[in-house]
Amino acid sequence: MKNWFLHDGQVYRENQLFNEDLLIIEGKVAAFGTQARSIRANTNYPVRDFSAEGCIISRGFIDLHVHLREPGYETKETIKTGTKAAAAGGFTSVFVMPNTLPPLDSVEALADLQKRVQQSAVVKVFPIAALTMKRRGTHLVDYSALTKAGVKFFSDDGEPLNSDLLYDVMEEISALDAIVINHLEDKDLAGTGRFHQDIPAESEYLMLARDLKAVSRTNCSYHAAHLSCEQSVALIAEAKAKGLPVTAEVTPHHLTLTYDNIKEPKGHFQMKPPLRSTSDQAACIEGIKSGIIDIIATDHAPHGDEKRHNDLSAPFGVTGLETAFPALYTKLVLTERLSIKDILRSFTVNPAKIAGEHPSLAVGVTADITVIKLDCNRLVNYEMFYSKGTNSPYIGETLSGWPILTLVDGEERYGCQL
Ligand code: DOR
Ligand code: ZN
Repeated sequence: MKNWFLHDGQVYRENQLFNEDLLIIEGKVAAFGTQARSIRANTNYPVRDFSAEGCIISRGFIDLHVHLREPGYETKETIKTGTKAAAAGGFTSVFVMPNTLPPLDSVEALADLQKRVQQSAVVKVFPIAALTMKRRGTHLVDYSALTKAGVKFFSDDGEPLNSDLLYDVMEEISALDAIVINHLEDKDLAGTGRFHQDIPAESEYLMLARDLKAVSRTNCSYHAAHLSCEQSVALIAEAKAKGLPVTAEVTPHHLTLTYDNIKEPKGHFQMKPPLRSTSDQAACIEGIKSGIIDIIATDHAPHGDEKRHNDLSAPFGVTGLETAFPALYTKLVLTERLSIKDILRSFTVNPAKIAGEHPSLAVGVTADITVIKLDCNRLVNYEMFYSKGTNSPYIGETLSGWPILTLVDGEERYGCQL
């Protein structure tokens, strides 16, 4: 069924909320408001009526930072389980990091990913290719061949780009229609630390300062991954004021939590970068409000559930796709620290602009849609996840604002009666 009449909801488009109906015909947005209602009243072909009362209807969310683990680490996540989790979180497009086995560092590996995606993905999956061969930080990937094959982003996420290669990488990528994403973690400064006490903010912002200097010399397009501290937000503000081609992201967990929220089992709170202070969190929130930080990206980093109670050996990374919107809505919108439009813009318009996707609902665009029921409360527990990753800092919390319907090209990919 690709014909839908989503009625009595609030439609988010052009960064505004309208109380209006939405009609989708053959997988495309056909009309809004009274026009949608009158066309629906006169149709003689099947259309699914869906009450969106109390719901937001938005362009499907876009996540520029997701780990799906396939190929190579299918016990942690597969393209099927990870994209089901994405659909359940309201995401219709995910950009996937190349720290797989083998890593995505060639046109052949790209073709393999595309084949797997075609077989099992339930949402749109876009590749992020590695910056260096096998992500080993020695030999550059063939950026030209991969961009010709459709890749837009390059990252060794999980491993930072070393200084020896930085200028060569940026010079090559600046000549292409592509963007560098760097994992900001100086491993010497971070050492073997597991939380904020041992992983200082310097390990992030000194590397960001280094990268931004290289951007100003090469004019390479650059996206700063998972910012966690106030110094990084200030550096991005400065770079943008100078007109550098820079964008930045923050995760839902860095926006909603600080190290004071860490409790047992600590493995649920162990991620890179670590959770930081109240003032760091406030700077990230302000960054979203002001637009200095462009997007919210989940850094969905599933590791299966086998390690969830074992603090010391817990791997870095938390499951993120399914709880992203409810966590932000409950902890920031309901407390009036951010508006719902700030959140929706950071999940739709802004990532779409960076990725070159269509930014907003409009007549004629493909119906990638998420419907979110705002007054619906749900307890986060291990059993609810479609993802194989259940390390979540929100386990045991009741959150509001859950997706109840996700459409990709007008086809239902997630639906839930809540
Ligand atoms: O916590 C993290 N986990 N941060 C990263 O940057 C990588 C990720 C992973 O791949 O598990
Ligand atoms: Zn990373």
